[in-house]
Amino acid sequence: MSTTLQNTPVRGIAREHALDWYRRNRARTQALFDVLTPDTLYAQPIAQRHPIVFYVGHLPGFSLNTLVKRGLGRPGVDEALERLFARGIDPDEDGHDAAAFTWPDPEAVRAFVRAADDRVIDALADADLDQPGHPLLDRAEAVYAILEHEAMHQETLLYMWHRLPHAAKRAPADYTLHLRPGAVAQGDVRIPAGMAALGARRGDIPFGWDNEFPGPVVEVESFRIQRLNVTNGDFLAFVEAGGYRDPQWWSPQDWAWVQADQLAHPTFWTRREGEWCWRGMFEDIALPLAWPVYVSQAEASAYARWTRRRLPTEAEYQRAAFGSPDDAPRPHPWGAAPATAAHGVFDFSSWEPAPVGTHPDGQSAWGVHDLVGNGWEWTTTVFDGFPGFTPIASYPEYSADFFDGSHFVLKGGSPATARELLRPSFRNWFRPRYPYVYATFRTVEVTA
Ligand code: AVJ
Ligand code: FE
Repeated sequence: MSTTLQNTPVRGIAREHALDWYRRNRARTQALFDVLTPDTLYAQPIAQRHPIVFYVGHLPGFSLNTLVKRGLGRPGVDEALERLFARGIDPDEDGHDAAAFTWPDPEAVRAFVRAADDRVIDALADADLDQPGHPLLDRAEAVYAILEHEAMHQETLLYMWHRLPHAAKRAPADYTLHLRPGAVAQGDVRIPAGMAALGARRGDIPFGWDNEFPGPVVEVESFRIQRLNVTNGDFLAFVEAGGYRDPQWWSPQDWAWVQADQLAHPTFWTRREGEWCWRGMFEDIALPLAWPVYVSQAEASAYARWTRRRLPTEAEYQRAAFGSPDDAPRPHPWGAAPATAAHGVFDFSSWEPAPVGTHPDGQSAWGVHDLVGNGWEWTTTVFDGFPGFTPIASYPEYSADFFDGSHFVLKGGSPATARELLRPSFRNWFRPRYPYVYATFRTVEVTA
């Protein structure tokens, strides 16, 4: 097998770009594992997810299975490990049978990772990655799928790490926190009635997941939406007013969850000597009142109801973020300029969020702030395919397994969302009572 680089750009993705992205992904994944002390490899910080060791094997294992074996028909490395590391677990409310899995020792995992990485890099260096008409390789689909899959899991890793005790982690040298409040005042922005483009049209973007196509253009009534995300300070008023003790703000299912888990505050908060604290990645700090609150959709909805408001729909988010007065959709809320750290908190630029309203360069055409980055935004839209949905050949279960009426769309992105995933059509989804994600919200006025 030749490893000589062919420098001809392919139609779907330039080979050098794919190799560079794969290597950057692997280096960042390694850096994330390096934060952990060695004895955490078999820890399971979130009951509904596999232990950490699964993700070590899953990332190169998925790339090997998808691109090398299924896409290119080349041999694998180890059938049993490829199967073990093939699939994650959905955050199911009931958890799963952890005892059903036995995990290999660290040396066996490392050997598998090295061998899988070698095969993937060989393939990226010399295989025919873009094969028109091929089910998995048309427009280099499987290449994008493995690259975006690893980038998404880096966020999964970080929110899992967030739940580990601080003693299990070592802060890297560049760790800092943004604590200075912004100068922008909360308030409503009125968005006039008009069109919102959901998802994308096939062919308009080099790659998208199946749930992004074929994106419809829909009409949205005028609405009033908060300029800034709801902050810890805002949410504290709900907590102190007894919001977690009053069923009137919660749906029956959400209230049953609050009682069963004895919830009294967001999962990202903790109480120390009578004071509220933020449970940070590397330390607990006095609750930063100006940061966006990170909560489940159930908690966001309860807060919205308490303020006599509601969460936005996916279409409303889309119009607030990417719409404009002349109805020409923008590639980013701020326009066509490539995403930089001045536009928002994303692409691993920070271990925690920044105060709301501190990235005014990122505001949308209507003056709504922080729509991309600093925390995913919950919507009321049930996750489903658009009319004409077809499962993506390189990963047919990716979306379709979650079209069950109990997952909701989130939009935007968090500090741990890679820049490659910031396109307007990208859709995230979680169960409404999953409280571990870097997810926040803003509310919309209820009209008669
Ligand atoms: C799109 C973030 C909901 O982590 O459950 C990774 C992404 N799917 N491997 C998830 C995913 C399979 C997925 N989310
Ligand atoms: Fe996965």
